[in-house]
Amino acid sequence: MSNLPRHVAIIMDGNGRWAQQRGKARVRGHERGAEVIRDILTFAAHHDEIEYMTLYAFSTENWKRPKAEVDFLMRLLSRYLKKELHVYLENDVSFNAIGDLSRFSPSVQALIHDTERQTAHCKGLKHYFALNYGAQDEIIRALNSLRENQTDITKDSLSAALDAPEAVDLMIRTGGDHRLSNFLLWQAAYAELFFTRTLWPDFTAHELQSIINQFKSVERRFGGL
Ligand code: IPE
Ligand code: IPE
Ligand code: MG
Repeated sequence: MSNLPRHVAIIMDGNGRWAQQRGKARVRGHERGAEVIRDILTFAAHHDEIEYMTLYAFSTENWKRPKAEVDFLMRLLSRYLKKELHVYLENDVSFNAIGDLSRFSPSVQALIHDTERQTAHCKGLKHYFALNYGAQDEIIRALNSLRENQTDITKDSLSAALDAPEAVDLMIRTGGDHRLSNFLLWQAAYAELFFTRTLWPDFTAHELQSIINQFKSVERRFGGL
């Protein structure tokens, strides 16, 4: 039996380089990258085997970037959420933010929660959007929330306390680098890792399908024989 890509997670990297290669400002790459998300989510929504898709949009470390780029990304996020709501609804995709949202402005937080509320009934695909997300931060927040219960922490209780509890089957990073950059460190314990040199703005549903095809033929042993 072939593997099922139930939970696909993608590190959407390479936006800045895509723009620089074209002599444009880095932020033009972020703009184009936001449009690619629509194609990939629509593909995933209509793929029978994908139940969860987690996309890394902004890390806990990305605040270190120049203020102008961070400010642009915040405006882009607001624009994206307003513009794409109909895409979520038409494709039956629920939007779920993961990460520490408290660092966003009240208006961005309100927009995020509004998008979550308006798409909560959608059952075709559960989409996690990682915003001010870091796996170490996620695990620490989960442990702090469990500490109040005074009972022993177990693998199941910690998993359930994470922002996104589902184990990742297929982890993809675009942009050519071979690292996880603090993404889903717990959930990816037995994920199959795929790295492509394609920069995120050039990534397509066709390439995703070809990665899924390769993933399906891998022997996943989970430590057994
Ligand atoms: C990923 O693209 C998007 C974010 C991290 C917000 P980058 O902005 O990291 O693009 P490169 O890696 O510099 O090309
Ligand atoms: C990872 O990309 C974060 C996102 C794609 C949102 P980065 O570009 O921030 O990662 P590093 O700095 O190359 O590890
Ligand atoms: Mg990068």
